[in-house]
Amino acid sequence: MKIAVAGKGGLGKTFIAGSLASYFSRQGHPVIAIDTDPSPNLAMTLGLSPEEAARIVPIAENEQLIRLKTGTEFSGVFRLTFSVEDIIGKYSVATPAGPSLMVMGTVRSMGSGCTCPANSLVKALLRHLVVERNEIVILDMEAGVEHLGRGTAEHVDILLVIADANRKSLEIAKTICRLAGNSAIKKIFLVGNRIADVRQETSVRTFADEHGIAVLAMIPFDPAVAEAGMTGNPPDDDLSPALLAIGKLAETISALGPEQDK
Ligand SMILES: Nc1ncnc2c1ncn2[C@@H]1O[C@H](COP(=O)(O)OP(=O)(O)OP(=O)(O)O)[C@@H](O)[C@H]1O
Ligand SMILES: [Mg+2]
Repeated sequence: MKIAVAGKGGLGKTFIAGSLASYFSRQGHPVIAIDTDPSPNLAMTLGLSPEEAARIVPIAENEQLIRLKTGTEFSGVFRLTFSVEDIIGKYSVATPAGPSLMVMGTVRSMGSGCTCPANSLVKALLRHLVVERNEIVILDMEAGVEHLGRGTAEHVDILLVIADANRKSLEIAKTICRLAGNSAIKKIFLVGNRIADVRQETSVRTFADEHGIAVLAMIPFDPAVAEAGMTGNPPDDDLSPALLAIGKLAETISALGPEQDK
């Protein structure tokens, strides 16, 4: 299953993508977590130190992969498919939390910092990545809506759009859902995050109802998660209300079934 996590900046995309990836990994699934954000920080959510994170070679700088994908290096040879095993073995790093991590990065040599080539690489990769029944690929998307125009997440099975009770985040979530609705993505859901009380939950649910958006989960505001963001020490899985809710979300996603109903 290929899952993308999108939404306005700073609302918990990386936290939710990383925690879902870790949960699935603990359940025994082979998991690839892909950081498609040009300022990557999924690595730390998965337990790597800032030094280890800095040593990761982003795929945008991984010439071997780009050549393989574009076929420019070997005339007539164009690999049409990748397996999760290929990616885990060759193009990702292991993390203490379990998932294999792949970082998109930006194309520095282009000077402009344009992420377009890296985006098209991720798009091509997702398209040609053959994901078996028990394998999970999770994308932590760049904030905002632009990447939808580029179709980076076009080939995922499920899009989770993160929003809190703030009107601006809900409006951005609505735009993302509308744009994604015009793409091939069939399963698009809103996930409320940092929900502090019933009033906030109600306002997210009411907004979603009004705009015909399905809500898959409500992740509570969790002081331990906010604290972990400051200290770098992860919250306790069994005690953190947010992590428990993300575990439930993972089970709900599993119950949605694989991609055959796409
Ligand atoms: N449920 C929650 N309860 C409390 N704090 C949270 C929760 N979810 C996320 N946070 C905190 O909010 C901050 C932003 O989270 P995160 O980095 O995951 O957001 P993001 O959407 O990936 O941001 P960006 O757009 O910058 O990539 C972090 O400090 C994180 O620890
Ligand atoms: Mg992030």
